[in-house]
Amino acid sequence: MSAVSRVLNLSRNRQSVRRFSDRRIPSEILLRVLECARYAPSAREDQPWRFVVVQDALTRHQISRAVFQGDLIRTAPALIVGCARVHSNIAGSGRPSHPVDLAAATEAMVLGAADMSLATAWITGFREGAIREVLGIPADVPVVTLLAIGYPDGFQRLADRRSEELSIAWDRWNATGSGDQ
Ligand SMILES: Cc1cc2nc3c(=O)[nH]c(=O)nc-3n(C[C@H](O)[C@H](O)[C@H](O)COP(=O)(O)O)c2cc1C
Repeated sequence: MSAVSRVLNLSRNRQSVRRFSDRRIPSEILLRVLECARYAPSAREDQPWRFVVVQDALTRHQISRAVFQGDLIRTAPALIVGCARVHSNIAGSGRPSHPVDLAAATEAMVLGAADMSLATAWITGFREGAIREVLGIPADVPVVTLLAIGYPDGFQRLADRRSEELSIAWDRWNATGSGDQ
């Protein structure tokens, strides 16, 4: 299988899982997943991320209590908390670049994990202050992403995706004039 079709295959068949088996993730595999993030692109090569990897059971429990649907990640053997060391704006636009950079790095881990038969749950619904307190993250460091990772305990139905026609426009926003957004 070519490299391109392998990534497409992973993208099509990956899904978020909510239940993880109690199988431990070997540290070299976890490091390889994190390596995917380190090589992600970032605006101005800021590489603004610092990932706090939480495997300690008590700390995971405390973090899951800071997540709105904490039950979803309760069984995950590792939580990767993505923080932005540097927060800066995209030149000229005024929009922050660090959430975009953190998202690129997180997606790299999601696909890297899938490639190594691991499953993930990407969570942004959490109380940032509570996570900051549990992990000792400084007040000026945004907590952007939380990725639960582990070996899956079963899969559900793959999520539906919007059609190619609705998701992609060629040359103009709405060349067909159909009114679809
Ligand atoms: C940026 C981002 C934030 C998300 N935050 C949450 C969340 O807070 N809680 C949750 O249950 N799922 C969260 N998800 C998971 C999505 O709900 C999930 O990716 C989507 O339903 C598609 O399902 P799939 O990942 O299985 O394809 C998040 C996903 C992304 C990419």
